[in-house]
Amino acid sequence: MCGIIGYIGSRNAIPILINGLKKLEYRGYDSAGISFLTGSQLGVRRCAGKIRELEGFIQKEKLKSTIGVGHTRWATHGKPSEENAHPHRAGGIVVVHNGIIENYFELREGMKKEGHRFTSETDTEVICHLILTYTQKGLSLEEATKEALKHLEGAYALGIMSEAEPDRILAVKNDSPLVVGLGEGEHFIASDIPAFLKYTRDVMILENGDIASVSRSGVSVWNMHAGKKVNRKVEQITWSPAMAEKAGFRHFMLKEIFEQPRAIADTIRGRISLEQGDVNLSEFSLKGGDLKKLNKIYLVACGTSWHAALVGKYMIEDMVRVPCDVDIASEFRYRKPIIPKGSLMIVITQSGETADTLAAQREARRLGARVLTICNVVGSTSSREADGVFYTHSGPEIGVASTKAFTTQLTALYIFSVALARARGRLGASEAQDLFHELLQLPEKVKAALECNDAVKKIARKYCRVRDFLYLGRGINYPIALEGALKLKEISYIHAEGYPAGEMKHGPIALIDNNMPVLAVAPDDNVLEKILSNMEEVKSRGGTLIAVANEGNTKVATRATDAVYMPRTNYYLTPVIMSIPIHLLAYHIAVLRKCNVDQPRNLAKSVTVE
Ligand code: G6P
Repeated sequence: MCGIIGYIGSRNAIPILINGLKKLEYRGYDSAGISFLTGSQLGVRRCAGKIRELEGFIQKEKLKSTIGVGHTRWATHGKPSEENAHPHRAGGIVVVHNGIIENYFELREGMKKEGHRFTSETDTEVICHLILTYTQKGLSLEEATKEALKHLEGAYALGIMSEAEPDRILAVKNDSPLVVGLGEGEHFIASDIPAFLKYTRDVMILENGDIASVSRSGVSVWNMHAGKKVNRKVEQITWSPAMAEKAGFRHFMLKEIFEQPRAIADTIRGRISLEQGDVNLSEFSLKGGDLKKLNKIYLVACGTSWHAALVGKYMIEDMVRVPCDVDIASEFRYRKPIIPKGSLMIVITQSGETADTLAAQREARRLGARVLTICNVVGSTSSREADGVFYTHSGPEIGVASTKAFTTQLTALYIFSVALARARGRLGASEAQDLFHELLQLPEKVKAALECNDAVKKIARKYCRVRDFLYLGRGINYPIALEGALKLKEISYIHAEGYPAGEMKHGPIALIDNNMPVLAVAPDDNVLEKILSNMEEVKSRGGTLIAVANEGNTKVATRATDAVYMPRTNYYLTPVIMSIPIHLLAYHIAVLRKCNVDQPRNLAKSVTVE
């Protein structure tokens, strides 16, 4: 997830681009850059780091231009560095890009053979070279772009400029957001409305396949799928600038919860081959041979990432039949772990900077294990020190309480489990294809699951004043009970515990009365009957039951006082779906209690001290 801004008009574009980038910084902040035209001469300024570093770097130059594009990056391909920062340039063409080009590697190798020279590790650079190839054949910028797009697979929003046509910016949208702002004799393009809200409230929302040609006098849109010019509605934005930054959501946490369909789709993108039932292992730097030799796996993490690790154990042991140990990172490093030969440690970390996780990772390597990190931040310490990296492309997570990073970690673990099971002959191609079919439906199912928001809000109103909460789950959804309790604790300050439902009778059942609601995570799986009995135990002691279940489950409905119903998926992916109402419930309760949802007291997003 990166941020794009573009301006064409009569004012100086440079401060407008910098201001816009500052508003988009929540979308990515590891490097930034701008490109502008002076006459028909392209200039590019880029640097690693935050926007204020770029600003400081260009301030001395007193640059002036009336047309330019800018970009703030959240790395997906290639570490955060000046060379990898956007805009990228080939000849007289510059491009800023948000998204992932799945087939960039093949395209780049092909073009290298034709003599193109690449200067970055990004997937974006191939786009400039492709457009350049077609302009060199005499095509206009728009025609060349249309031809270039035919080669691209993946998701992208693009801002494109050319020295040969210094009076236009092209804006292209395919599965990544891009909007056009309309002013008087001036126009803007941006990944998100806040970038230009200061200048105009008239917005044209582009649709997939749109190529907008943006000049000072107007905007015309061609749609690739329709193969013709199209008209797009212009809307008036009434949000306040603060609301706009969160895309109209009240908090980053809620915005991030609703971003999950996109985040999960991006995590899957380019990773699987449905036709062969195989996983693309290239970026893990762990070869099939390595995977075959593994005989022990350690999953290590902190906080919410540790809950993902717990789910990972169920996935891997069930699909792959390799024994897994799950450790809290701060425990692993001091427990004198025994690491047999052929061990793999899977580190799970959103930030890649958590001190305890890094210490455990280093200890494991010292003891001879190989390390794979499932991480959200490209170039983070964990990713630099690991033998292999599986990036969850969920984009920056701003809310301290992790949501989309968690479900993308689960998605990554699912894909890695299939890879491992395939490499070790535990899964045939057709079984893997079935698992992939379900995976590919996950973004849509998560979208459907998010429709429970209003129902969950109602439940939150009913229970937001309680002092204690108990969450129950079993099997692969036991970690989701832990996750529900952690989220409630951290953002609403209600005391909450997560328990494996079968353990109730060994202690927690003594706490049951009508002042403590009990939430049961009860999807239709192999332990449904068991958890139904546990729910009976609660009910018969006067407890109040809330259930999170699958659509049409009448057995749960008759036992629970309140219930929300989720779409069905396969066993391994139920934790992804079940965490949607769990996260939403914590969110709404915290809002009703007037808590600082995005920055809860005493907590930090990234804990870089022991
Ligand atoms: C902090 C955050 C949690 C996060 C944990 C681990 O406690 O508040 O949301 O789960 O760190 O962070 P990591 O970046 O390693 O996943």
